[in-house]
Amino acid sequence: MSAVSDLHRHDVLILGSGAAGLSLALRLDANLSVGLISKRELKEGSTLYAQGGISAVLDARDSIESHVQDTLKTGAGLCDPEVVRHVVARGPDNIRWLLDQGVEFTRAAENGGYHLTREGGHTHRRVVHAADATGRAIATTLEARVRTCPNVTIYEHHIAVDLITSRHLPGSKDRRCLGAYILDLKTGRVETFLARFVVLATGGANKVYLYTSNPDVSTGDGIAMAWRAGCRVANMEFMQFHPTCLYHPQARSFLITEALRGEGAHLLLPNGERFMPRFDPRAELAPRDIVARAIDHEMKRLGSACVYLDISHRPADFIIEHFPTIHQRCLELGIDITREPIPVVPAAHYTCGGVMVDRQAHTDLPGLYAIGETAYTGLHGANRMASNSLLECLVYAESAALDISHRIAEVSPPPEAPPWDESRVTEPDEEVVVAHNWEELRRFMWDYVGIVRTNKRLYRAKRRIDLLMHEVIEYYSHFRVSNDLIELRNLLEVADLIIQSALRRRESRGLHYTLDYPFKDPSQRQPTILIPDHYRPRRGLDSGLRWNDNRALESPSE
Ligand code: FAD
Ligand code: SIN
Repeated sequence: MSAVSDLHRHDVLILGSGAAGLSLALRLDANLSVGLISKRELKEGSTLYAQGGISAVLDARDSIESHVQDTLKTGAGLCDPEVVRHVVARGPDNIRWLLDQGVEFTRAAENGGYHLTREGGHTHRRVVHAADATGRAIATTLEARVRTCPNVTIYEHHIAVDLITSRHLPGSKDRRCLGAYILDLKTGRVETFLARFVVLATGGANKVYLYTSNPDVSTGDGIAMAWRAGCRVANMEFMQFHPTCLYHPQARSFLITEALRGEGAHLLLPNGERFMPRFDPRAELAPRDIVARAIDHEMKRLGSACVYLDISHRPADFIIEHFPTIHQRCLELGIDITREPIPVVPAAHYTCGGVMVDRQAHTDLPGLYAIGETAYTGLHGANRMASNSLLECLVYAESAALDISHRIAEVSPPPEAPPWDESRVTEPDEEVVVAHNWEELRRFMWDYVGIVRTNKRLYRAKRRIDLLMHEVIEYYSHFRVSNDLIELRNLLEVADLIIQSALRRRESRGLHYTLDYPFKDPSQRQPTILIPDHYRPRRGLDSGLRWNDNRALESPSE
């Protein structure tokens, strides 16, 4: 006997409420009914913790071309140049949109304009910010706006389990996304949500690693759901490690923004020696892949648990004004950053790959869009440049909103879908299996699929994934779903995609560094595209994501 699920219908269903999901909800026509799903409180997600800021060309001495070239260079030859141009060109208008929503950015003392900071890879000051808590300013402002929108129904503490597609309808010839099965974490019931359009805005997958700057929600759910629904994913080997997370037993996942280095902080060994100039002429302002690898190398060489980041040579009032959150948090832990260096280590930070989308954020499955960190647009290539992520969230939310408003009249509401079937499952017998596998997965991903890789380590990780996957699929088919089980299943799926992609790339490029192939190979200058078993290309209007699977890219010099 099937359990009867609650049924919800909307024009647009947005899964995720970070910068991508919130800005899409605000940009959609007010006459559309929007369901906005969040697996925790509305503003919990990476967006809330973003520190450095958003990159955009806002200074007369800067140029779109310069921002484009910096992004392409940081992306190590794998960015899609047309996408980069498009996103960078939409930057200034999107910052104006944020200002119109009420986001308050830090002003420059000299001229009353916005203060622009610098980060790795940028050759100009172009990062607009709200002190060192830019994400908080954006998330709280957009959240307040969304809560006043009568057309948006908010579902907090609801976690999407899987997408509903026409494959769920017996005999259907159509091919589209119809909605999602969603677990209400308060009632424990899985409900059916149907919509004319579904948008994945579920963020990254960085919880797949033991050490991460990300909050708990970053478990790659959107990537895993899209993959299971038949969408291609790309460039999953390019997981970005942020060079400087606070190293302290009581500070879990606390980032020390790259803007500190932008404002002159130096990286030091435990003996006080500055080491970055030995690795790159840009020293502390080299792109993140280079800085994280240099730190990893020095820590392993010296057997030291961390390195140090020192800004104490700048005036104390400057430090406190620009980095109040970091100053305060470090003080609470007994570190006065105006007088002493900060212990730091690299940690998993950003998922450069994701669900393949075109310029309008269409995935391979008609009716399904992906925006924000969960998507792979071609902007970041083999390494994301600092502060380009929030920009991408905003630009693709804008594109998806426009596209949906053009198409809404052509697309009818989906028919009924079968309710979630719990007739053959029981209450879980041993929760410890889920907790243990979570821990094991994240630890071996850190040890074997981290900053420096080898084929041997990757195969070792792959064998463990296969075992865990087998166990978890069995568990999933026998027991009632829970938040942790859903996330573990998705993390395993994503870990597998990362390893498969890493094994395919037989060179070192950007964030993917392997001792077996330590150099760049120009013949491999193309994205790694994984194709699911039941993938079918889109036809008609939606045809052709911009890249063919094996097309070599023409882009700027490496
Ligand atoms: P998120 O903000 O992560 O939101 C994801 C949403 O999806 C959440 O609401 C979550 O609850 C929901 N969700 C996930 N899975 C499900 C599911 N199954 N069902 C329902 N809901 C689900 N980038 C910059 O450009 N500049 C910066 O200064 C910067 N600083 C950063 C600092 C930190 C500490 C971190 C972690 C990241 C930083 N980044 C920065 C990266 C940037 O913040 C993120 O890439 C960006 O915020 C992602 O936004 P998003 O909307 O795609 O996802
Ligand atoms: C930071 O502030 O260092 C993070 C910036 C980013 O991830 O873009």
